[in-house]
Amino acid sequence: MRAVRIDRFGGPEVLRIEEVPDAEPRDGEVLIQVIATGVNPVDDKTRAGAIGEGTPPLPMTLGWELAGVVLDGGGTGRRPGERVVAMSHQLGTRRGTWADRVAIPAGSVASAPATVSLAEAATLPLPGSTALQTLDWLAVSAGTRLLVAGAAGAVGGLALQLAKARGAQVDALVSRDSHLAFARDHGAGFATTDPAALPDRGYDAVFDTFGAFVTDAVADGGRYASIATQAGPVPDLSARQVATTIHQVREDGAGLAELTALVDRGALRPRVDSTFGLHEIRAAHERFARGALNGKVVVIF
Ligand SMILES: NC(=O)c1ccc[n+]([C@@H]2O[C@H](COP(=O)([O-])OP(=O)(O)OC[C@H]3O[C@@H](n4cnc5c(N)ncnc54)[C@H](OP(=O)(O)O)[C@@H]3O)[C@@H](O)[C@H]2O)c1
Repeated sequence: MRAVRIDRFGGPEVLRIEEVPDAEPRDGEVLIQVIATGVNPVDDKTRAGAIGEGTPPLPMTLGWELAGVVLDGGGTGRRPGERVVAMSHQLGTRRGTWADRVAIPAGSVASAPATVSLAEAATLPLPGSTALQTLDWLAVSAGTRLLVAGAAGAVGGLALQLAKARGAQVDALVSRDSHLAFARDHGAGFATTDPAALPDRGYDAVFDTFGAFVTDAVADGGRYASIATQAGPVPDLSARQVATTIHQVREDGAGLAELTALVDRGALRPRVDSTFGLHEIRAAHERFARGALNGKVVVIF
């Protein structure tokens, strides 16, 4: 079967499509025919050799998420032909999803949404799990005043919609004027490109997706979560009784099922910026690197 592999770090030119031995499911794993997958910032950093400690040894297969069709459910209850989505923490599991077939633990798999294509569904697993788990840590519920920084990004755009679905009052900080309409259309009451325009101590919770560290915006006694590992730790806000964290995403099939149900209820809209065939994997990475994305870069197998 084909897989997207690297045997050295560098730019998109180091990506290679190689023939590798077929995936063989172990007990408790589901064998999935991959139809589509998304490009995430971590794939770009891994390919570039920018992860540092925790980077799997070379050569490796890349990719953290997939949408596809079950080939063999083993004893897991999944039936051949079922449309599914799944995440694999590639740095930890060393199981990349950018391959024709992938064997994934049943607990990391969820049914794909019925109302969207598998290309759209492939945009959900990594950013959706990150958004959901971080909103849970932030204790976002009806009435919470929440700021999402980077609200037009893959994680931020889903966080915005998920928080709105919970009844939170959500504001958005985005990178450019062209993202303001997206933020307003997807639930932001107030959207700005200017951190100085944010109300001082105005939010119960801040979800920071790019290392904005807009710590003046969080209320004393509030919660501040960053997912921008590479930007370093959140400043110590303990003197103001603000709880802080850098959230690290984990595989969670039950959480993924919550996300796909929200898609089918129309509360969560997946966003595809652009679509590439597998043979265009280098071009897909080049598109990702140019930034200013309006959704995810999707690769079709
Ligand atoms: N810790 C974890 O478990 C975890 C999980 C998932 C992702 N992450 C990390 O979280 C970050 C976001 O991921 P993603 O998938 O959402 O990436 P993404 O789709 O590229 O989104 C990032 C967003 O932040 C915006 N942004 C960047 N600099 C900004 C600035 N100075 N002011 C306002 N907005 C700014 C970008 O805008 P433009 O593109 O328009 O510039 C983009 O909309 C990445 O660093 C990723 O590695 C961490």
